[in-house]
Amino acid sequence: MERYAHITGWGMALPDRVVTNAELSRTVDTTDEWIVSRTGIRERRVADGHDTTASLAVSAARAALECADVSPRQIDLIIVATSTPEHLFPATACLVQDALGAINAGGFDLSAACTGFIYALGVAADAIRSGTQQNVLVIGSETLSRVVNWKDRGTCILFGDGAGAFVLQASTVPGGVLSSLMRSDGSGSHSLVIPAGGSRLPASFDTVRNNQHYIQMDGKEVYRFATRVMASAAREVVQDAGLTLDDIALVVPHQANRRIIESAARSLNLPEDRFVVNLDRYGNTSTASIPIAICEAVAAGRVRPNDLIVLVGFGAGLTWGAAVVQWNVTIRPEVSAWHRLNRRAVYRLSRVRSALRRGLRRVEGVVFGQQSPEGQEPPRRS
Ligand code: COA
Repeated sequence: MERYAHITGWGMALPDRVVTNAELSRTVDTTDEWIVSRTGIRERRVADGHDTTASLAVSAARAALECADVSPRQIDLIIVATSTPEHLFPATACLVQDALGAINAGGFDLSAACTGFIYALGVAADAIRSGTQQNVLVIGSETLSRVVNWKDRGTCILFGDGAGAFVLQASTVPGGVLSSLMRSDGSGSHSLVIPAGGSRLPASFDTVRNNQHYIQMDGKEVYRFATRVMASAAREVVQDAGLTLDDIALVVPHQANRRIIESAARSLNLPEDRFVVNLDRYGNTSTASIPIAICEAVAAGRVRPNDLIVLVGFGAGLTWGAAVVQWNVTIRPEVSAWHRLNRRAVYRLSRVRSALRRGLRRVEGVVFGQQSPEGQEPPRRS
C-alpha cells in the first residue's frame, strides 16, 4: 500500500526580547525608515543568555508533539535544520533528542542555510514514504544573533532568532508532502558566508580580530539570486505535484525581504494576499522562518483542511528549494496514550533519565577508567 508523509503537528518558539529598528538605530548608522523601505522588517527577536538553538528547538518541538498528540518515544528520527548549531559536533539534534526523552530516535543536523527546513522536510518525507521511518520530527532553529556582527549595518538589521517544528507521520491516506525540490550552486558560496570557525579557517586571534566569525554577505548578489530562483522553484515543484498555480491556496516563502517576496508574487502572477508574510515582526530567522510563518497562518485561520500550500526558500550555499504540501491533518490515531499522560511529568522524567545516564557514565569512567574497552590496560608510554 502506498505511504504518504503528513504534517500532523506544528509548533514554534521565540525569545521574549524584541529589538526594534529604532533600538538598532541607536547602535549602528541606520534608520527605521531605511530598514522598512528596503526590507519590510520592523523588529526581530533576540535570544537572551538562557536561550540557545537547542532550547528553542526543544520548545518548538514540544509544541509540535502536543499538537500531533505524539509522545517523544514514538519519534524515530529528529532532523534539526540549522545554520547556528550549538557545536560543530555533536549534532544539536542529539541534544534535542536527550531533552525531549525521544529515546527511540536517531538525530542529525542538516546544513543548507535558510533552505534547511525545506531540505529537511523533503528528506523526512522521503524517509517516511520509503517505509524506513514512521514518525519524524523536523525542526528549524536558529540563534543568528550570536553570529551577526552588531556593528555591521548591512547584515545586523536582517536577522532574528526563533524556532519552528513539524511532526511528520506515515499514513496510507493520500496527501501530505506531495513534492519537494532541493537545489544548490556552490559557485555562489562566497556571497553569504561565515568564513572562520570551521576546518578551513580555524579560530585564531587573527580570525577574531578580522570579524571572520560573523556573517559576511554580498546583499545585492543574494538579492538577485533570490529573485531569480523563488518563482522558478515554486513553478517546478507545483508541476512535479501534477498541479497548477491556480490550485495553490497559499505560498509560504522564506522570510528574508519583503521586496523579494513581492518580486516572486509578480513573477508567479499571484496576488500578494496569497503569500504569508510575517518578517516585519521577526526578520530573517533562517531555517525557522517557514515553519514559524505556517504556525501563524494556521493560528490565523488562513489554512483550511485540504488546502494546497507551496513552501519556497533560498539561502547560503547557494541553496534553494520548494515543497508542495496538502494540509490534511485528519490522520491522527483516535486514542493516544500520550494524550492521557501528564506531559510535565514526562518532561521531568526525561531530565532525570538524562542526569542518571550522565551519572552512570561518570561511574563507568571511575570504575573502568584505567582500562581500554576490551578490558585491557592501555599501553603505557615509554
Ligand atoms: N541603513 C542605512 N543605510 C544602509 C544600510 C542600513 N542598514 N545598509 C546599507 N546601507 C547603505 C549602503 O552603505 C549604501 O550606501 P552607499 O550608496 O553610500 O554606498 C546604500 O545604503 C545602498 O546599499 P545597498 O547594499 O545597495 O542596498 P540594497 O538596496 O541592496 O539593500 C539589502 C541592502 C541587504 C537590504 C538587500 O541587498 C537585500 O535584502 N539583499 C538580500 C539579503 C538577504 O536576504 N540575505 C539573506 C538570504 S537568506
